Amino acid sequence: MSKDSISMDEQARAILRGNDRGGYTVPTAGLYPYQWNWDSAFAAWGFAQFDLPRAWAELTTLFSGQWPSGMVPHILFHKPDPGYFPGPDVWGAEDIGPIPSSGISQPPVAASFVRAVFDKDPKQGAEHLKALFPKMVDWHRWFMTWRSDGGAIFITHPWEAGRDNAPDWDEAMAAIDPTGVGDYTRRDTTHVDPAMRPTKEDYDRYIWLVQRGRRLGWDDAKLAQDMPFRVADPTMTFILLRANRDLAALADVLGADRSEIDGWTDTLEAGAARLHNADLGGYDAINLNSGNHTGHVSCASFLCWYAGIESPTMMRELSVAFEDCKYPVPSHKAGTEIFNPKRYWRGPTWAILNALIARGLAEMGHTAEAARVRDLTQALITRHGFAEYFDPMTGDPAGGGTFTWTAAVWLAWASPSAEAA
Ligand code: DGY
Repeated sequence: MSKDSISMDEQARAILRGNDRGGYTVPTAGLYPYQWNWDSAFAAWGFAQFDLPRAWAELTTLFSGQWPSGMVPHILFHKPDPGYFPGPDVWGAEDIGPIPSSGISQPPVAASFVRAVFDKDPKQGAEHLKALFPKMVDWHRWFMTWRSDGGAIFITHPWEAGRDNAPDWDEAMAAIDPTGVGDYTRRDTTHVDPAMRPTKEDYDRYIWLVQRGRRLGWDDAKLAQDMPFRVADPTMTFILLRANRDLAALADVLGADRSEIDGWTDTLEAGAARLHNADLGGYDAINLNSGNHTGHVSCASFLCWYAGIESPTMMRELSVAFEDCKYPVPSHKAGTEIFNPKRYWRGPTWAILNALIARGLAEMGHTAEAARVRDLTQALITRHGFAEYFDPMTGDPAGGGTFTWTAAVWLAWASPSAEAA
């Protein structure tokens, strides 16, 4: 191991420690000052490389915000912070869960990282796994009850998929008239160059959808009927399918009955198959209001292997991404009209997505492609730092800096010292 990679490991550990707020980690100070759901699960994977008790604490704190319905919110507002908008006063969900929170969820990577952390030291992890297992089952059941359209998992707000301004949502977003949203002040663009963030048109609709959810009391049955945004999403579907397989393996560890979980896996496999768009030759989202496939190859399309699904057509798309970009995998296909290498989920490369994509590739026997994604991500972070995301053509860092999940995937996967590689 070289001296450089040791110092990169040290920097990554310092980022996790620096973003630690005591039992939970913020994605980055300023821009995201609370606990975010999937960021936190990635943080646990990173902490597990050098501090297992801290990794378990992260996951335990995340599930301490679980709603009675089983939903695990996308943001837990542990302590007020006026530097973020929209805060708890806008969501109006303070009294529903045990901790003030948002009213929507996020991609359920947690069960997969609980498994990864448990595997590091099953003895130390036994009690934690026992405590977390029923909570994870409840969360997955919530998805299958409220967000499953024949196994294709849909979102009711773009923030729920984590890929806020992905072109996959454009058609559904264009159908929303955000009249009456009122005045509000964005905070994100005071922390980050507005050219790297969603547009005002997007934001008006994000806030309008939050106001609608609030009016419906965040009641699942009412949301299912009255939320005008319903898009079946490959991020959610592939990640839940994978997490569900991991949950079943954890059931075996505990000697628990896994039949309900296996039933969900069958349903999710059928749902994932529906996301295949023959015209596109790959996986994309479906706007459930129109029935239209959205027609976009995104980084989420490449999560098929992570979900245990083989796809020669996506393998061809991966070769295209390698050819098009110095640092794949872009969040939206390069060379298309919509592609924007700096604007959040409309082009930039995200190290977290690369980590999941490469894990899937390696597990399905595509070891050369997995190594290529990893080596390029390693070079990207080494040369350009622990940014939130990166320009796939130049590697320029974009969004927030000293970013928890980029540091976490460095330690767990991209670093030369990473065991999970
Ligand atoms: C934001 O504030 O940009 C977040 O992505 C919402 O979760």
